[in-house]
Amino acid sequence: MSLRLSQRSQRKRIVIGLAIFLIVWWHLGSSSSSSSSPLFAGDVKFAASSFDWSQFTPFNPVLDIKPLPTTRPRSLPPVQADAALFKPSRVNDERRAAVRAVFDRSYQAYRSHAWLHDELTPVTGRGKDPFGGWAATLVDSLDSLWIMGFKDEFREAAAAVGRLDWANTEAGALNIFETTIRHLGGLLSAYDLSREPVLLAKAVELGEMLYVGFDTENRIPGFWLNFKDALQNLQWAGTNDPSACPASLSLEFTRLSQITGDPKYYDATDRVTRFLEKTQNKTLLPGIWPTTIDFRHETVYQNRFTLGALADSLYEYLPKMYALLGGVDKSYEDMYKAAADTIIEHMLFRAMIPDDGDKDAIYFTGDLLVKEDEVMRINESQHLTCFVGGMFGLGGKLFQLEKHSQIGERLARGCGWAYANMPTGIMPEIFNMVACESTEGPCPWDQDRWEDEVGAAQVPRGFKNARDPRYLLRPEAIESIFLSYRMTGNPEYREIAWDMFEAIIMATETKLAYSAFADVTVTGATKKLDSMESFWLAETLKYFYLIFSPPDVISLDDYVLNTEAHPLLRPKPFAG
Ligand SMILES: *[C@@H]1O[C@H](CO)[C@@H](O)[C@H](O)[C@H]1NC(C)=O
Ligand SMILES: *[C@@H]1O[C@H](CO)[C@@H](O)[C@H](O)[C@H]1NC(C)=O
Repeated sequence: MSLRLSQRSQRKRIVIGLAIFLIVWWHLGSSSSSSSSPLFAGDVKFAASSFDWSQFTPFNPVLDIKPLPTTRPRSLPPVQADAALFKPSRVNDERRAAVRAVFDRSYQAYRSHAWLHDELTPVTGRGKDPFGGWAATLVDSLDSLWIMGFKDEFREAAAAVGRLDWANTEAGALNIFETTIRHLGGLLSAYDLSREPVLLAKAVELGEMLYVGFDTENRIPGFWLNFKDALQNLQWAGTNDPSACPASLSLEFTRLSQITGDPKYYDATDRVTRFLEKTQNKTLLPGIWPTTIDFRHETVYQNRFTLGALADSLYEYLPKMYALLGGVDKSYEDMYKAAADTIIEHMLFRAMIPDDGDKDAIYFTGDLLVKEDEVMRINESQHLTCFVGGMFGLGGKLFQLEKHSQIGERLARGCGWAYANMPTGIMPEIFNMVACESTEGPCPWDQDRWEDEVGAAQVPRGFKNARDPRYLLRPEAIESIFLSYRMTGNPEYREIAWDMFEAIIMATETKLAYSAFADVTVTGATKKLDSMESFWLAETLKYFYLIFSPPDVISLDDYVLNTEAHPLLRPKPFAG
């Protein structure tokens, strides 16, 4: 508050400027939509947005822009298993075709009923715009269309992207995280795959807009980019913001700098990385960062820790940034290793489950609450935490840590187990398990203990409850199963994936497309929630498609995937 008051003298001038600006903006906004050129097949045109954020003069300029690393990319250990381990088969080709057909059906439903809206409502067949109204599903689907060989649809979608106007939104503020991972990630990935210039041009326009969000006193963005606040120097880093928001914008911003040669985007997110580095060992649980952080005062006193909602991709991006920078910034390796040690020590657990064989083969992760010197683990997993198997797998490969590779597989299988053991064959959004005392040693099935802990909850043995029993079409479980498959070549993962796919289609299919539904513990006609978020097309179906594809389709040795499953090109070591 006191900081805001000190700005008052400047305010009048800015408010007048703002009024003029908005009038011009609206004027341009309304005229540009009618004046944009018609499109012809094979002719992807670029129509500039009606406001150009690159002309915005920051109130808090950066005095010293850090360049991208100039060291030659290193030759990193292979992520994928030996190509000889991947065997083609007819069954597999049929499964791939089945996934492609489901994608086609979903996309065509969006195209017919919700074109240019953010999402289709898959039961009622309407469009809705929870992400600014910049056609989130369309932008998020571009690279999937390309990878699955929908060339006509890709061209049509690219043409529509060429006419997107970032200044044309009814929202007064933009969600920086969601817009970065879905829109910016989607555009950069589609550009990396297709080299279609219009996609890069729109990515740069959007990058300029998102970059305005960093115009705060300490150059750490808030959760929302509020356009009016931005124009009046009223932006601040948050005092209790999700750690993942400013901390996992780095892949997209770095790739934008790599492609354009302009280091300012990389510089912007690198400043957040240095904050993470500085604070990693100063939290209540050194090695990991709390779920929410006071980014404004740059302190990390909060006492809750999770790998799920609000924090997840902060961790995911550590090994991924290492890969995207060609292994030349060791601080990502150090931060990953220190975080992984704490996660292994405190968050990982085995569940008491009836089948002894499975018990040692699967892990889950829980949340932590630190009180005085006590670290309490809440044995609760979320669908969102399922990414963590893939993260350990990638860390294991890049840093040659066999133990991490094993943990990664066990975590991926834990999610597979939670799918297979629910009545619908699908894991709940949030659930609790009855945990073993430690990750090693005996942990026999104890019917009495389980009945005690479960109480009246109607859940299969091993689960304690399904606290949030919805399935929201989420990708994280198939993500880790896919990554485990590519990293090991073990065909068992394809079987797990196929069972998951069949269960998901069975439970989510609507007359038009596929929908989130209310309760994975109940079979029969499932109650649909009329929601199909863009990650269904961007991630879930892409991972299912890729696991049944030959290993050179989006090889993990060529690409690193952002947290919305958008593949970004990795640098090659033998450039000189
Ligand atoms: C944090 O502590 C770990 C374990 O002691 C250490 O390996 C790591 O380098 C430290 N990180 C930083 C940024 O100082
Ligand atoms: C989680 O499981 C561990 C091991 O069984 C137990 O010590 C701990 O109390 C459990 N946490 C909660 C919140 O019940």
